Amino acid sequence: MSVSKTGSSKVASQNTIEQRLQIQHLQEPTLIFSSSLGSDVVKGLTQTPKSLPPRYFYDDYGSELFEQICGLPEYYPTRTETAILQKFADEIAKITGACELVELGSGSSTKTRILLNAYNQLGYRLRYVPIDVSAGMLASSARQLLVDYPSMFVHALAGTYELALAQLPPSQLPSRMICFIGSTLGNLNRQECDMFLSQITKALEGGEYFLLGIDLQKPKDILEAAYNDSQGVTAAFNLNMLQHLNWLLEGNFDTTQFSHWAFYNEKEHQIEMHLRSARSQTVQLRALNLTVNFAPGETILTEISRKFNLDTIQHELKTKGLVPQKVWTDPNKWYAVILCQAIDRNYLVRFDGNKPSIK
Ligand code: AVJ
Repeated sequence: MSVSKTGSSKVASQNTIEQRLQIQHLQEPTLIFSSSLGSDVVKGLTQTPKSLPPRYFYDDYGSELFEQICGLPEYYPTRTETAILQKFADEIAKITGACELVELGSGSSTKTRILLNAYNQLGYRLRYVPIDVSAGMLASSARQLLVDYPSMFVHALAGTYELALAQLPPSQLPSRMICFIGSTLGNLNRQECDMFLSQITKALEGGEYFLLGIDLQKPKDILEAAYNDSQGVTAAFNLNMLQHLNWLLEGNFDTTQFSHWAFYNEKEHQIEMHLRSARSQTVQLRALNLTVNFAPGETILTEISRKFNLDTIQHELKTKGLVPQKVWTDPNKWYAVILCQAIDRNYLVRFDGNKPSIK
């Protein structure tokens, strides 16, 4: 990781991919069964109504299906966000200056490349910290990025956002920007969202940045089409969660006996995705020692995808000490990208009325 006095780009380009890549697994695979990875499944499947955490969508095949969803004609969020980033990445980079990019849920890092290009073109050093639960996807996209950006360093973290945010590697650049694009924030309910934003604030120093991409409220027919595509990719993505659990937890879900169901809950401003049991059936998850009974037509909530109001979310960010600096949207106002700056944490603790803690 040497940076020379004689010109950083020249020396950096002499580093091999292996020298520029670090992959850290935040949770040992052997610990998976004894830790939260199983207990949240038990919790979700033993309560009424049943639910499962959306992160179980993303085994390697699920991540691939999600990439396919992003290219579907009905699924507007990805192309809309991409267009916003293409138009304004340069402006974002100029505001933040050189900074380390930390990305939550990096997936294939396709949209991140737009940001990386902007920082690269301004001559800023590139250090990227992608975080994803799909370790396979993480490793392969990191390697490809290192081929395409010969001076970049990558420190990839395989694990959940919670684990990663609690143990980010020390920043090696003057500033840092945590990127949470793709509207994944929408997967979190109000309470989870609140806790998550607090974790973001905690992970940032005062003056550092948070870049958030969110899907906005819009007519029901547009939203419902995006989650009920004509090619059935979203249905396959939803059902794949059961295959993932079969593999991970020695389950025996019969995916032909469940079906995809997605609709827009207008009151809650959220898409809800469910899996509906076709008949009365019993499923076993041997690794969890769990037997689950389904009534005919009973559903499992696998995902909420909240659609935000731009003023409300900005207010919420501000109360968390993440002050919106600039907002970019598309001409239809279907989607927004918000750049926030973290206020000094010492100020925030006073602001909350809590005792200031020692950093
Ligand atoms: C990755 C959470 C943003 O909510 O639109 C896509 C996932 N689910 N189609 C979304 C998803 C069904 C997606 N996020």
